[in-house]
Amino acid sequence: MSRIFNFCAGPAMLPLPVLEKARDELLDYQGLGMSVMEISHRSSAFDEVAAGSEACLRRLLSIPGDYAVLFLAGGATMQFAQVPLNLATPDRPGAYIVDGSWSKKAFGIAKRLGLAHLAASSEATGFKSIPAKEEWDLSGNEAYLHYASNETISGVQFRHPPESSLPLVSDMSSDILSRPVDVGKFGVIYAGAQKNIGQSGIAIVIVRKDLLRDLPPVVPDLQSWSVQHKQGSRLNTPPTYAWYMAGLVFEWIESMGGVKRMAELNQQKADRLYGFLDQSSFYLNDIPPEVRSHMNIPFQIVDESLHGRFVEEAEASGLSSLKGHRSVGGMRASIYNAMPIEGIEALIDFMKEFENRAG
Ligand SMILES: Cc1ncc(COP(=O)(O)O)c(C=O)c1O
Repeated sequence: MSRIFNFCAGPAMLPLPVLEKARDELLDYQGLGMSVMEISHRSSAFDEVAAGSEACLRRLLSIPGDYAVLFLAGGATMQFAQVPLNLATPDRPGAYIVDGSWSKKAFGIAKRLGLAHLAASSEATGFKSIPAKEEWDLSGNEAYLHYASNETISGVQFRHPPESSLPLVSDMSSDILSRPVDVGKFGVIYAGAQKNIGQSGIAIVIVRKDLLRDLPPVVPDLQSWSVQHKQGSRLNTPPTYAWYMAGLVFEWIESMGGVKRMAELNQQKADRLYGFLDQSSFYLNDIPPEVRSHMNIPFQIVDESLHGRFVEEAEASGLSSLKGHRSVGGMRASIYNAMPIEGIEALIDFMKEFENRAG
């Protein structure tokens, strides 16, 4: 068996011990003679899977008891709609800080529903910055302040949650569990799974319980956090295997030393790659250091005509999916929790060698 280093932004690389455990349990989950995929979402066996996943996530993020944890289908994009539907009204829209393509999408969906107010945008900088607090346009009457803690495409990341008197709502799809976070500062945290949680098809929503409310009948029950909370996230058949895989990833993070240890390792990996880029006159990353992402590192070659060749030859060397997002071009290394430091070293070795050949 040969495993490569997968730098894909998502679905992303998973930790080998997680895949091995899933493989070992695939045909016969805990003596049941069938896989997790085949057991009822209402069975006691699945109750244990669900409760175990939630308990482990609660331990990892020290989630206070007054927060509900939901496991919902539809990915983070579904939450772009569920956030305004569950929290905002036309009189009290949600406020949005737009610092990249994903928060722009979230804002666009809420706006279409007539439930959004644009507080600030860094689009004029090509999303290479985070709007300064002095630029935010807020009345204070908004239902919440939404931001994406890490913008996966442009590679900018908030170092700390923004300060606001409004309930904070954060899309943490691409950096959840990569560092400690004080959940008590947030109204809602949500994240799609396919980067730091597991496989696609499921999103996690951590919501302060006092924000749960009954919705107008026109909103389908499946979109209601309150109904889903009462139903244990099982109003209908959930993505059971993705839920199980999330639990395995949580256990792996715990076995590695938790999110504090993840943050140390992620810092080391990011320092190593940015350090290499910054001393190079062949490669570059043009995001200001204070907002650089520790998860997604876009980079270019000064001679842009070499980008295609770089990606192709890297792929052939076992460094997969380094092509940058089509909206920004160049390359992007997504280095979530499961990417070991050896992957960064292998990438840097390849970059040096490529420069020698093509530079
Ligand atoms: C920050 C961020 N938000 C939202 C999404 C959308 O996630 P999904 O495909 O689960 O809807 C992504 C996907 O890459 C993302 O990176």
